Amino acid sequence: MTVSLQKHGQIAVVTIDNPPVNATSHAVRLGLQNALHQTTQDDDVQSVVLHCAGRTFVAGADITEFGAPPQDPSLPDLLAQIEAAPKPWVAAIHGTSLGGGLETALVCHYRIADPAAKLALPEVTLGLIPGAGGTVRLPRLIAPEQAVEMIAGGKPVTAARALELGLIDQIASADLLGEAIALAEGATRRAPLTMRPFIAVTSQDTWDNAAQKIKTKARGQTSPIAAITALENALKMDAPAALAAERALFEELRDSDQCKALRHIFFAERATAQAGRIKGVAATPLSQVGVVGGGTMGAGIAAACLLAGYPVTLIERNNEAAVAGRDRVLATLDQSLKRGVLTTAAHLQAVENFHISTNYTALSDADLVIEAVFEDMQVKIDVLTALEAAVRPDAILATNTSYLDINVMAAALTRPSRVIGLHFFSPAHIMKLLEIVVTDSVDDQTTATAFAFAKRLKKIAVRAKVGEGFIANRIMSAYRREAEYMLEDGAMPWDIDTAMRKFGFPMGIFEMQDLAGLDISWAMRKRLNATRDRTQRYVDIGDKLCEGGHFGRKTGRGYYDYSDSGKARPSAETRALIMAESRRKGITRVQISDKAIMARILGRIRSEAAMLLHEGIARCADDIDVVMVNAFGFPRWTGGPMFHTSGQD
Ligand code: 3HC
Ligand code: NAI
Repeated sequence: MTVSLQKHGQIAVVTIDNPPVNATSHAVRLGLQNALHQTTQDDDVQSVVLHCAGRTFVAGADITEFGAPPQDPSLPDLLAQIEAAPKPWVAAIHGTSLGGGLETALVCHYRIADPAAKLALPEVTLGLIPGAGGTVRLPRLIAPEQAVEMIAGGKPVTAARALELGLIDQIASADLLGEAIALAEGATRRAPLTMRPFIAVTSQDTWDNAAQKIKTKARGQTSPIAAITALENALKMDAPAALAAERALFEELRDSDQCKALRHIFFAERATAQAGRIKGVAATPLSQVGVVGGGTMGAGIAAACLLAGYPVTLIERNNEAAVAGRDRVLATLDQSLKRGVLTTAAHLQAVENFHISTNYTALSDADLVIEAVFEDMQVKIDVLTALEAAVRPDAILATNTSYLDINVMAAALTRPSRVIGLHFFSPAHIMKLLEIVVTDSVDDQTTATAFAFAKRLKKIAVRAKVGEGFIANRIMSAYRREAEYMLEDGAMPWDIDTAMRKFGFPMGIFEMQDLAGLDISWAMRKRLNATRDRTQRYVDIGDKLCEGGHFGRKTGRGYYDYSDSGKARPSAETRALIMAESRRKGITRVQISDKAIMARILGRIRSEAAMLLHEGIARCADDIDVVMVNAFGFPRWTGGPMFHTSGQD
């Protein structure tokens, strides 16, 4: 039964059981309506507890129903009926109460939550606003400035924060259902939220500031702006009018291109994991992880593993480097504690789980070792060979190389079937994407284990085959090249960056390179110089900047000049260098419009993507969308470069 009813004395317990996430699909809505009738008519029932089976409270409307014709009862109608119920309803919340799930909790007259519960209205992340009363009921419970943060930001709040805000009445101590029943026993009917006045804004200034912040951050996405409109309606209209206005906005957004694109990405991100589900092959459980190299990436990877609860041993070349690596990792754990990502107990446990060493024998129990040493084939082969001698024969050896040929690394070892690429993005403990690079010799168990490892790290794992730069860096190198051609053809770095920002990227390609350090790609170009195809156009501007010691932000100069406070401004020196390079090559510079800049960048992304698909390096076009959105901030609300149709460019 999707919705069932049981009586505990005078308390009716209504249970939703609709795996995997108890979404309010049609069967759930019908079941709830039925339960509402039964509990209303049964004179023995004093009040009702609404709770969910499985891992979570209702995680929202059923997104798969969005494209289909509506079926009654609609969620808003059903929720209005529950809100008007003559007997008090108590929502018992565990797991995640999201979107339509939180809206369901809001029509219940009391809310009690498990201490680990999270509550959110994440509709904006799907290009929507709450469409079942969230924008109208929430500001009648919490201050509008906080409501707008939840609705337009979409971020979850913890149970403790929800209690502080007044969003819930109680946190359960041990037995959520038992305590919810106890709460229901003493409950009297409260006025529904829509009958209460909304909470006034603290001041027009605080509201305007909060709204302005959201508008700036939206960068072309429409739903956060619509969320502000819906809340402003709720603050000036009566509840029925505001509910109708909210629904009209919701329906308009639901049919919009942005919402379709965001739904596409939502499902594409979940579908990437299919590449790790191999028939008849189970992932090996991992209990000890080793990381070699404690620099930017190694420290980030170690932190990511510790945050996921793995014991980690970090190996460095000497004591000094090991201590520096340890400090980097501990600083990240401290930040995570400060940001509330880790509880005090989990932080302590992570610190206890972390060890450093300069000796590979410390990895004799490791199930997985990830190397993140210098990007040099010989250094990596030496490290992997030494590792192979030190670890158990069944341990997996992974490389975080950005560009190097992992087939060559595997071939240098005696157990190539246990070698795989795990390509993290910087900062590794934050970035969601992980490219899992399967070599020609890797076995299925290693691949399945790598995907299971990614899931535990809460990463989106995309399968790639070996090839210079795999998926992400190969596409990035291609559109960076196109951007460099445009420098010679007539655009300046800041023109290109501005066009990319207007399109919705969080930053342009030249700002991004200045941030990452120009020396990294310079080293790669030098490595490839001997084998470079001389018939292909080559732009020397990046090399010349590096020869002058302009490595980007870290040296105060790159494509841009940086003030002491870190503010970027167009560099006269870069401009002069670019003009000189155009002259040297005999190119007549022409003005390139923002539209033409983006057409060239998108065209290059798509043609490189087509080659990756043809070569079998990427599994499918959806995976490329997922990579571009999660690695380089390709605007999510376009659905990624492959989904994004040319008409919308
Ligand atoms: N509708 C339909 N299917 C959903 C769903 C939803 N709302 N949420 C998750 N699923 C499916 C996923 O597609 C996935 O299916 P698969 O196993 O076939 O790939 C499965 O449930 C499990 O999802 P995850 O892999 O994401 O599981 P996690 O445990 O990592 O995360 C979650 C669970 C936090 C609930 C996450 O799935 C999530 O964030 N879901 C979306 C929540 C959301 O956006 N809700 C708002 C919906 S819009 C709405 O409510 C409108 C309302 O205002 C009217
Ligand atoms: P880094 O220079 O910050 O760190 C490398 C670390 O490896 C140094 O601390 C060094 O002491 C250590 N090391 C070198 N040889 C060693 C050995 N034999 N034994 C133990 N430790 C050794 O470099 P970074 O940026 O962390 O890159 C590491 C790897 O990750 C490279 O392959 C790089 O291509 C890749 N990568 C880098 C990304 C980035 O954004 N920086 C992103 C994704 C991958």
